Formats: sequence, C-alpha cells, structure tokens
Amino acid sequence: MYILKYNFKVDIMEVKNFKSHWDNAYINSNIEDLGWYERMPKATLGLFEKYNISKDSVVFNAGAGCTTFIKFLLERDYRNIIVNDISSIAINKLRGELNKYDNIKWIIDDLTKSKKVKIMQKIDFWYDRAVLHFFTDEEQQRNYFSLIRDKMNIDGYVLLSQFAKGGANKCCGLDVVNYDDQMFQNGLGDKFKFVESFLYSYQHPYNSNRRKYIYSLFKRIKK
Ligand SMILES: C[S@@+](CC[C@H](N)C(=O)[O-])C[C@H]1O[C@@H](n2cnc3c(N)ncnc32)[C@H](O)[C@@H]1O
Repeated sequence: MYILKYNFKVDIMEVKNFKSHWDNAYINSNIEDLGWYERMPKATLGLFEKYNISKDSVVFNAGAGCTTFIKFLLERDYRNIIVNDISSIAINKLRGELNKYDNIKWIIDDLTKSKKVKIMQKIDFWYDRAVLHFFTDEEQQRNYFSLIRDKMNIDGYVLLSQFAKGGANKCCGLDVVNYDDQMFQNGLGDKFKFVESFLYSYQHPYNSNRRKYIYSLFKRIKK
C-alpha cells in the first residue's frame, strides 16, 4: 500500500481507472499542497518570452490540472487558450477560479485515447508539464505522440516538461517514465525540430519536495 501525503491511499496495482485516481487527488487536497504546485511557472513563461510567442497563438495546456500557468497567460493577454485535463474535478476547480474570463475553452479528455481534442482546431503551442511521464504503457505513449503530431500547426511549438533521467520515478502514487531529449524526439518524429532543452530543479514553495525536470522545446517544421 502506498500512502500519499494528502491523506488518501492508493494500491498501485489497482490504479486502472486513471480518471478516478486524478479526481481523488484533486478532491483530497488543496491546490497549493499538491506535489507539483507551482506558484509561478517561470521556466515556461521564460520560454514564451524568449521565443516571442504571439498573443494570438492557440495555446493548449495538456493535463493542466489546477495550474497557475493559465492565470499568467491571461495576464499577458493570450486570448486563444485551451485547457485540458482527464479530471473534471481539476477542470471545475480551475474554471471556478478563472470564471471572470469567458475566452477559455475547457476540454475534459483522456489524451491517451482522445475523442474531443482529436477533432478540435489545430494548435500553435502544446504545453505539457508532468503529464506524459505518467503514460507508462507503449500504447498510451504512441497515442499521445500521435495526437500531438496530428494537432500541431506548421511553425508551432511543443514544450514537454517531464521528470528527467535520474529524477523521481514515482509521483502521486503512480510510476513515471524518466525522459531525455532523444526519447521526446523519437515520439514526435522527424517533422519536429529540436530547439532547446534544459534541466530544471523544481522546488515546491511550501514544503521540501524537490524534483528534477527536463524542459524540451520542439518546433513543427514543414516537411
Ligand atoms: C502532476 S499533474 C500536473 C498538472 C499540471 N500540468 C501542472 O503542471 O500543474 C498531472 C495532470 O495530468 C492529468 N492527466 C493524467 N492523465 C491524463 C490523461 N490521460 N489525459 C489528460 N490529462 C491527464 C492529471 O489529471 C493531472 O492534472
């Protein structure tokens, strides 16, 4: 039995229903107590500034949970934002916080077997922090990368920010895959050009939780 610090218990072998698993995580904790909570997503926002991402870009936040990132995007006048998660609890919590904005699309969808994202508009910036690394089955990974390949506009960016090699191998009671740039490139394929990557040591603002992430940015090229 794996005991999580936010007072709910998960038997790893029995985690088959990922939606319930994630719903429980968001039901059972304050957003700020979640192990992945970022007060200020400075590494990601830094890349938005560095690459001068247009305010008109369709920005898709995969598995956004209750991230603070959306609030910062809105403050910076981004106007085409799509927020996704498998957990309706997470989406509803974040939606409640941002209810004064009516220009966000909210999409509850499992990105490893997408029904909704796969039929929606194309994307200019795909951002995934700490979602892909939970996809431990090859089929989940294949479906997810295939979805990214299908949805990206030419010249669009994909930012994958996952636990790095040598980093933690579990989170929220689930096993994770540790990534490097080549693994991302293999999944994305040759229509995506590596732009840059860096290691980032994430420190939870209120507890001792520290995690080693790799941030890798790719660009969809014409081929
Ligand atoms: C560790 S949290 C990270 C949340 C957010 N990206 C952040 O950085 O704060 C992982 C998130 O991925 C979501 N998730 C897990 N599996 C998913 C799937 N198959 N499709 C969409 N979202 C998923 C979870 O509900 C959870 O919100």
